[in-house]
Amino acid sequence: MTTLRVRPVGQELLEAVAQLEAMVSVTPWSLELFRDEWRLGSWMRAVLDAHGQLAGYVVARRQFDEWHLLKLGVAPAFRRQGLGRRLVAGVLRKARRERALCVLLEVRASNHIARMLYEAMGFEILSVRRAYYRGRQGLEDALVMTCRLAESLHLDKPGELREAVRLR
Ligand SMILES: CC(C)(COP(=O)(O)OP(=O)(O)OC[C@H]1O[C@@H](n2cnc3c(N)ncnc32)[C@H](O)[C@@H]1OP(=O)(O)O)[C@@H](O)C(=O)NCCC(=O)NCCS
Repeated sequence: MTTLRVRPVGQELLEAVAQLEAMVSVTPWSLELFRDEWRLGSWMRAVLDAHGQLAGYVVARRQFDEWHLLKLGVAPAFRRQGLGRRLVAGVLRKARRERALCVLLEVRASNHIARMLYEAMGFEILSVRRAYYRGRQGLEDALVMTCRLAESLHLDKPGELREAVRLR
């Protein structure tokens, strides 16, 4: 079995990440976008095989009390081996450690594989952004999905919400 290791994305890996992104994403980020994100200090992890070949990557960023999972990709040759799960689990772990309230992401409504992965990891649909993505078949909805990490988001009554906002 090939050894796969997860490591932080250094500057030298950005080109490989952008190349893999161009292969796996319908609306890929450019190398420039990855560079900008990297300079912002976003959380980027890569999975490399024993030969240093890039098998997958994930990009996430903290925004106030939330973490946003921005990009996720696994090379076709490495799929169905739990890498997607491992990368998403890494983001959830990091967000938990940073005491985030939730992790948010957007996914194309037609991306059933990614949706199954996210649902298996505890994400639920929060809302729909109509005609959000431009794709091969025209415009497509985005599903906003969230994985709640803290109970304070489960507030039913406006009074409880006011109280929570006042206390934080
Ligand atoms: C989505 C993606 C990252 C999944 O990566 P992966 O390493 O193959 O995923 P895993 O092996 O960890 O699979 C985790 C779960 O996802 C679901 N899944 C993954 N591939 C699947 C497939 N081909 N068919 C059905 N379900 C699938 C399953 O629920 C699976 O759990 P299981 O193996 O216990 O059944 C990968 O397919 C990919 O890079 N797709 C293109 C880019 C993309 O869509 N990114 C997400 C944008 S929001």
